[in-house]
Amino acid sequence: MSDPGAGVSEDPIEPVLASTARDDAVLPATVRIEAGAALIGELRVPGDKSISHRALIIGAVCEGTSVVRGLSLGHDVRRTLAAVRQLGAAVDEPEGAGGVTLVHGGRARLHAALGLIDCGNSGTSMRLLAGLVAGLPGTTVLTGDESLSARPMDRVAEPLAAMGAAVAGRTTRCLPPISVSGGPLRAITWTPPVASAQVKSAVLLAGLWADGETVVYEPVRTRGHTEELLALAGAALTVTDEGAGRTVAVRASSLAPLDLTVPGDPSQAAFWLVGACIVPGSEVTVRDVYAGPARVGFLRVLSRMGGRVTISSRADQRADITARYGPLHGTVVDAAEIPSLDEVPILAVAAACAEGTTSFRGVGELRVKESDRFAAVLRLVASTGARAEAHGDDLVIHGTGGGGTGGGGTGGGGTGGGGTGGGGTGGGEGGAPGAPLDAFVAQSGGDHRLAMAAVVAALAARETSRIEGFGCVATSYPTFLDDLRALGVSPRTQLLAIDGPAGSGKSTVSRALSRRLGIPRLDTGAMYRAVAWAALERGVDPADADAVSAIARAATIEVGPDVVRMDGVVVTHEIRSPAVNRVVSLVAAIPAVRAALVERQRAWVAAHGGGVVEGRDIGTVVFPDADVKVYLTASAEERARRRHDEAAEVLARRDHIDTTRTVSPLMKADDARLVDTTGRSVEAVVDEIVSWT
Ligand code: CDP
Repeated sequence: MSDPGAGVSEDPIEPVLASTARDDAVLPATVRIEAGAALIGELRVPGDKSISHRALIIGAVCEGTSVVRGLSLGHDVRRTLAAVRQLGAAVDEPEGAGGVTLVHGGRARLHAALGLIDCGNSGTSMRLLAGLVAGLPGTTVLTGDESLSARPMDRVAEPLAAMGAAVAGRTTRCLPPISVSGGPLRAITWTPPVASAQVKSAVLLAGLWADGETVVYEPVRTRGHTEELLALAGAALTVTDEGAGRTVAVRASSLAPLDLTVPGDPSQAAFWLVGACIVPGSEVTVRDVYAGPARVGFLRVLSRMGGRVTISSRADQRADITARYGPLHGTVVDAAEIPSLDEVPILAVAAACAEGTTSFRGVGELRVKESDRFAAVLRLVASTGARAEAHGDDLVIHGTGGGGTGGGGTGGGGTGGGGTGGGGTGGGEGGAPGAPLDAFVAQSGGDHRLAMAAVVAALAARETSRIEGFGCVATSYPTFLDDLRALGVSPRTQLLAIDGPAGSGKSTVSRALSRRLGIPRLDTGAMYRAVAWAALERGVDPADADAVSAIARAATIEVGPDVVRMDGVVVTHEIRSPAVNRVVSLVAAIPAVRAALVERQRAWVAAHGGGVVEGRDIGTVVFPDADVKVYLTASAEERARRRHDEAAEVLARRDHIDTTRTVSPLMKADDARLVDTTGRSVEAVVDEIVSWT
């Protein structure tokens, strides 16, 4: 493959507002990292985002079925995936990270989209797709979220219009939504006024349908993934590099299906590699990372800081990269070394741990990334006990120097000992040995890279740190916490104990809380019900304590979000039967049954690092240390109305047994918050509880 060169960022031309996408609920809103755990092991990171977008779009054009392994599963690439389906390609989705995606494409399948194509927050999707649909007869409308709608599309619209497509958007800058009316195209020769890999890609994709030779000349090379993949698919393509520039020429051609493993995203690998360098005792290998020179400037910086990094190259600009813990020292980083600036937040964390001063020169563009990343990095670094200063467009960090339980002696003092240094956990008494940073609380501000950088910084802190607003990481790295676990660190999320009588709204509220906070839910009542069901099913007297507790001890009970299994049998509906309603409280009053189930409940929470756990004794007995405890109630009439399917006397008897039994009776924990749900909406109750987290 060709060298993408020392180019500029993927999309350098305009400000990006904070992401407004809220479909990030699959990841926890808050993550806690305990001190002292090293990162050890090897992993693959999600497929490179830039390559993933292009594999889907070019796969849609290829005649036949393209095989793509390791596609990025972040929100942005999912938008492109949905879009190529709307345009007529069929895509078989991968099962989990690293799976195989099949793209059934071909020119005859493709047509203008019937509905709107929603690009969400993804500028790459919109610009590349505009190029693709320019050659399709009919009109396709591309839209996006609030932030994307503020990003001009004129630099793509102009060349596409010159080729014969009609492109319209709002204002003279062609703001989204944009409509692209395509048809027969003529070839052009184009020099984008500002170097942009996205504009180049759009013109090349349109060039696949044009008569004659379409030529793009860029005075400064940008990422070359589009031409690399087009070449792989056998397009009639020539690439000529001269000095810092590149000329790509393409003719209409029939493309052969791709067979591609998307290499790992180097900007994601950076989190683990920096983590290994700064967390005592760590050693991490990231396999099969894209290592084109324009994308791995951060490795050169890390090595210059003394980082113990080794790169074993593979073919096609891929590499396995290993990093180990060792002392770091400051350096000077020029913005051109990291053209996209994507790795500045995580390198700033390395700088916070390093001895001496690190300057990031000319990184003012960070102010217009997913958030004001410049200010956000300053805040994060300052909260760790290192010092961070803005000098115009330069970011200057005076590291703590790390090492030794005595903590920050070297860094802060040597550079004039600013105000921040002494705060937090002070000298690090008793914390993780050798950890260089103070414990902190960080807010992501909706910026995924900042959230991940903060998690890595927390690994190097002397005591437990908390990262709020973590859910946005789903944008680019939905499996981040799985990978953290795979390297031996168990993150903690939040633990919410939701207790209350039948019909008080526990299940509805817990389900909504789980969705809102991105943490899993455990319905402990379903476990007692499953044991009661099994007793009835096996002809065991529900009052026979020995026999029923034998069932509870031996059982495998799986309580998932939608399905409950008892010893492998699906009992989701059976456990809600009138027969089970009648006996479940008797079963639940047996001390040995409770002991067996409470043990499993605790193990579940330990494995998940938290959860929304609902039941009768969660805040009092099972998790007296829960982060938030809620006791839900509702008026007797309202509870009976909600439970109209259960006979009133059965419900009343259940409540009576639950509240009067000797072991773990239903009652409000002293420190639980009482919430009466009578006449209140689920949203209102959930909002109130979320405000306590
Ligand atoms: O949905 P509903 O509130 O009616 O009941 P559930 O949560 O499914 O629980 C069924 C029964 O299990 C309750 O009536 C209690 O007897 C018992 N249970 C318990 O004792 N402790 C828990 N943590 C959860 C349920």
